[in-house]
Amino acid sequence: MKPTILIVDDEKLLLSSLERALSGNEYHALTAKNGKGALAFFEKNNPDLVLLDVKLPDIDGMQLLRKIREIDLHCPVIMMTAYSGIRGAVEAIKLGAYDYIAKPFDIEELKFAIARCLESQRAMVEVNEIKSKKKERYSFEKILTRNSDMKEIIRLAKRIAVNDKSTVLISGESGTGKELFANAIHYNGPRLNDPFITVNCAALSEGVLESELFGHEKGAFTGAIKQKKGFFELADKGTLFLDEIGEISHKTQVRLLRFLEERNFQRVGGTEDIDVDVRIITATNKDLLEEVSKGNFREDLYYRLNVISIHLPPLCERKDDIPLLVERLIANYRITLNKTARRCDDEALRILLDYDWPGNIRELRNIIERTVLLSDDEIITPSDLPLEIVNNHGRPETANIHNLDPMSLDTLIKLYVENILSRSKNNKSKAASILGITRQRLRRILRSQ
Ligand SMILES: Nc1ncnc2c1ncn2[C@@H]1O[C@H](COP(=O)(O)OP(=O)(O)OP(=O)(O)O)[C@@H](O)[C@H]1O
Ligand SMILES: [Mg+2]
Repeated sequence: MKPTILIVDDEKLLLSSLERALSGNEYHALTAKNGKGALAFFEKNNPDLVLLDVKLPDIDGMQLLRKIREIDLHCPVIMMTAYSGIRGAVEAIKLGAYDYIAKPFDIEELKFAIARCLESQRAMVEVNEIKSKKKERYSFEKILTRNSDMKEIIRLAKRIAVNDKSTVLISGESGTGKELFANAIHYNGPRLNDPFITVNCAALSEGVLESELFGHEKGAFTGAIKQKKGFFELADKGTLFLDEIGEISHKTQVRLLRFLEERNFQRVGGTEDIDVDVRIITATNKDLLEEVSKGNFREDLYYRLNVISIHLPPLCERKDDIPLLVERLIANYRITLNKTARRCDDEALRILLDYDWPGNIRELRNIIERTVLLSDDEIITPSDLPLEIVNNHGRPETANIHNLDPMSLDTLIKLYVENILSRSKNNKSKAASILGITRQRLRRILRSQ
């Protein structure tokens, strides 16, 4: 659609020549010769841009600009002044005009100003749309929980978001929501309008990670054909989220430590200190202290990163969240997959509650997606659930062996092995080692009827 331009001027000749010059392929031009007419046109036609003369017969152009701003905060206005008085121009910009142009002007000059103005308006609208979508997507309200420990963690994260200087370390098993929290902290704090850059440290090889993070100078290594800015520079004023921080090499650890101490760094192959204002959030599913004791991670860096720490408990330690998550996930997938499922019956929910969820919320989400997709009823029953979930529930209380229902030794062995396997988060080697048997024997027991 062609943008609509409202031209407001009391000089008839100028008005009609501007109308002629601006209407055609590119724009749709409307004209008004006084303030009253302009306001009426403005309210009725919602123009994309206003070209406004400072001097009008009935109302001062500045006053009209003010009125336009009361109706619409964002519609761009270019003021036309007969005298290139700087004071008027400054006042116009203060009142929210996008630009001003001094009469007499060249029509090409005016067209250029209009194009630039509309372009930047479009970019601004797009950027604002992306930002408000992200802000909405990563609001703390989107982190679902009924668990009291998690509520406490969210309260802490909200405080961390507002106080945007300190470095944060988020730990927790895979799929517990570490990335979700990192985003929420950025998008709910003062840095939200500046970049949020995520780097998965495990996905890049040592050398690549170093130059991606810190950038490099031309000729720093073979292939460095020109200077390149790294993520630290690109994230200036914003947040750098270093995911899987436990994977970085000793060399990169030293560079990162230096940045945290000095708040500046040098590009690879460079000598100049570059200052940036970047908040660092890191995440790991490893036990970093254990990595420190094994000599894999520098202790000094650990303490620098761990100024504020958030530990997200695994889903099996906050099972009171499962009914809420299940309910919301079914509701979401019902809509996005256009399916019929509305809720789980009691038995299906009990099975979901009994399962240990080694993949945490990501696993729960995948299972619900699959179940909603494959079910054609309103109610999800145990038969709709994947076998691996159904077979993994209902473990007896092994600690209290006196109250066990009588059963064959083979059945007891199988139930016990399943129990240990689930407690080992489905890690067969670990379970076999706890049970003192080989992995082959473990598999045989699990396969037995
Ligand atoms: N409390 C929650 N409420 C709603 N959705 C959640 C919650 N926690 C996690 N999720 C969702 O679960 C999925 C996994 O979360 P996320 O990617 O943040 O986990 P992670 O800890 O970074 O995992 P990994 O270590 O594997 O990278 C995402 O889709 C996320 O939106
Ligand atoms: Mg993650």
